[in-house]
Amino acid sequence: MKGVILHGGYGTRLRPLTHTGPKQLIPVANKPISQYVLEDLRNSGIKEIAIILGNIYPEKVKEFYGDGRKFGVNITYIYQGEPKGIAHAVGLCEEFVEEEFVVYLGDNILKGGIDRYVKEFSESDMDAMILLCKVDRPELFGVAKFNDEGKLVGLVEKPKTPPSSYALTGIYFFRRAIFDAIKRLKPSWRGEFEITEAIHLLLVNGYKVGHQIVEGWWKDTGTPEDILEANRLILDDLQGQIDGVVENQSSIQGRIAIGSGSLVKSGALIRGPAIIGENSTIEGDVYIGPYTSIGNNVIIRSGEVENSIIMDGCFIDIDDRIIDSIIGPNTRIILDAESKPSGRRFIIGESSQIIF
Ligand code: DAU
Repeated sequence: MKGVILHGGYGTRLRPLTHTGPKQLIPVANKPISQYVLEDLRNSGIKEIAIILGNIYPEKVKEFYGDGRKFGVNITYIYQGEPKGIAHAVGLCEEFVEEEFVVYLGDNILKGGIDRYVKEFSESDMDAMILLCKVDRPELFGVAKFNDEGKLVGLVEKPKTPPSSYALTGIYFFRRAIFDAIKRLKPSWRGEFEITEAIHLLLVNGYKVGHQIVEGWWKDTGTPEDILEANRLILDDLQGQIDGVVENQSSIQGRIAIGSGSLVKSGALIRGPAIIGENSTIEGDVYIGPYTSIGNNVIIRSGEVENSIIMDGCFIDIDDRIIDSIIGPNTRIILDAESKPSGRRFIIGESSQIIF
């Protein structure tokens, strides 16, 4: 079976982070979201993978994944450009795929992985199989409709009145029948070719569409809050591992991972679960609270950080507490109490958020 990862889209809700890269490369627990997707495919035995590229710095995706060899897979890049819809992106793969394939949205994380579903679909004669997850707000997703006997009878994209609480996760199994269904689509109310509608067409035209309810958590990381929640969920399963130097062992409590070349100075306190990348320095005055991910080459000179993602190359020196934050790469946050006139000074990009 071949795999397709969707790496396009605009990532509007994640600006300003997506002004400089695609949302799927935003790190969660120090690893790009789409790397979890790629590793899930690989761990299920899928080694031939197409990555669909959009217009937001597609070269950064190629630079990170290369030909896939260092991740144990073989990658083909397919350029979509403008995000005309998930079905449009899938339609571009007609040449790439053979008989059966899996499409995995590059911003989805599924804790239990897809291994068992890959086997189930390969051994079946289904034309499509979808994975569903019970959610609190189904109106934000594609939603499944069941009849009184519990049979799947339809799918609807972001309905105002959801017919059930079962959302379509961004993981779809297909055989070639999907391509004809895609060719029959018209743009939806949001101007996109919807994969939800293509699968609905298969269903109502008598093709075999199976469904599974996923076990464990599933996360679509479309907003900053989703990213922080995904970070917490991944860190909940973190294995502690100290490759860097911790000057005083009483500095660390709970499950902490610290990469090589990093230094935690005596007097600092890190309460896990938390992860610190490589070549980062946590100075003696600092407190790092639970559910924090700190990237590579970060210096935290003073202050407190909790439930946050601090990306590579940041410098933080403040006498204050940073919570529930996502700080993009190479950001400097400094308290300058000496200079006059005193006050807050900002050099901030478009669509940033500052909450005091
Ligand atoms: O996450 C699950 C949901 O994903 C499903 O429940 C919905 O039925 C499905 O339509 C989709 O909804 P979203 O509104 O979350 O889709 P979004 O526009 O965020 O795109 C999902 C991913 O696919 C994202 O990683 C960007 C990528 N994408 C999207 C479009 C529209 C592309 O690569 N190309 C595209 O044209």
